[in-house]
Amino acid sequence: MENWIDLGEVEKLKQKELAEFQIGKTKLAISFKNGEFGIISSVCNHVGGPLGDGHLDGDYVVCPWHFWKFHHKTGEGELGYENDKVPSYNFRIENEKLFVDLNSATKRNKLPHAPHPLTRKIEREPGGVRLVGISTTAMNKDFPRYSTSDHLLNTSLNYAKEKGCETKLFKLNEMNIKNCEGYYSKSARACTFPCTITQMDPNDEMENIYDAFVHWGDAFIVSTPIRWGVAGSLYYKMVERMNSIQNQETIAGKHLLKNKVVGLIITGGQDNVQGVAGNMLGFFAELGCQFPQFPFIAHSRGWSAEDMESNVKYVRESKILHEGAKSLVDRIYEMAGLMIGENALQQKFDKGGRKASREK
Ligand code: FES
Repeated sequence: MENWIDLGEVEKLKQKELAEFQIGKTKLAISFKNGEFGIISSVCNHVGGPLGDGHLDGDYVVCPWHFWKFHHKTGEGELGYENDKVPSYNFRIENEKLFVDLNSATKRNKLPHAPHPLTRKIEREPGGVRLVGISTTAMNKDFPRYSTSDHLLNTSLNYAKEKGCETKLFKLNEMNIKNCEGYYSKSARACTFPCTITQMDPNDEMENIYDAFVHWGDAFIVSTPIRWGVAGSLYYKMVERMNSIQNQETIAGKHLLKNKVVGLIITGGQDNVQGVAGNMLGFFAELGCQFPQFPFIAHSRGWSAEDMESNVKYVRESKILHEGAKSLVDRIYEMAGLMIGENALQQKFDKGGRKASREK
C-alpha cells in the first residue's frame, strides 16, 4: 500500500541542493540537481552518517562523516560499488508540492567490507613481557641533535632487552602520522576504530602505534620533552589519534587496552614535570592502562636555567637518571608480569559516568 507524504512547496525545496528530512523514524536525503529531485535514505551504509547533511559531487551524495558516495536518485554506491545501495523512494509533484511514498523504499544492500586487520580478536601471544618505547621528541631527521628524553628511553630499552624483554621502539618524528581530523566532533559515532584516517590512507603509519598498544605490547614507556610547560607536540598528535581507542570504551563498550602498563620519561630544560606527568597519566588512565608504583622519571633544571648545554651535559652524565631509567623498567616489568600472569582484568567495566553511550 502506498503512503504518500507531503514534503512541502516545490519552490522552497528547490532552494537547497541537498537537505535532510525526518518523517517519524524515516530519514530522507532530498536533492535537487539539474532541475530534478532525488529522494534516498539519509542513513549511510557505513556507520549511519546523515547523508542529507553531506554535499553533492556530480550525481552523488557524499556522506559528511567519511565521504562514502551514493547516487542521489538511485541510492547506488559509486562506480564499482553499485550494489552497495541505500533505499531510494518514489515521489511526485502535485499542486506545486512534492510528495514522497514512504512505502516505496527500495531494499538497502550492504556489500561486505573486509574488516580492518586491527579489529581482529585481541589475543596475547604467549611469551615474556613485550616493551614498547615511544619517543615523542621532535628533531631534524637528517641532522639529529642529542635528546635527553631519547637518551633515557634508550637506556630503558637496552636494559629491558638485558632482562629478556622483546622490545620495539617507535620514533614519532620518523613516522608519517597525520593529525586527527576531528571526526568525533561531527558525531561520537563518526570516530571509528581504527581511526578513519587509518582506514582511508595506506600511507599513514598510526596503524603501527595502534597495533603496538592494542595487540603486541604489554608495557609502554612514553618519553617526552617539556615544551612550554606541556608534553611535546608529537605526543599530542599521537594521543589525539588515540581518541578512537578511548571512544570505543564509551560508544561501543569495547575495552581495547587490556592489561597494559605505562610508564613515562619526562625531561625539560624548564619545569612543570608534575603538570606534564599528571596530564599524561590522566590520558592513559582513561584508556584503562595500569601504572607501576612511581610511574615516571623526570628531570628539569628549572625556570631560571637557560643554559641548555649544561642540561644536556647533566643528563648525559647523570648516573642517577640512568639508574632511574632502569629501575622504571624494573617496576613496569614486574607490574606487566603480574597483569599477564593473572590475566588480571577480564571483568566488564562501566563507563565512568560517560554519557556518550546510550542509556539502556
Ligand atoms: S561514510 Fe557515511 S558513515 Fe562513514
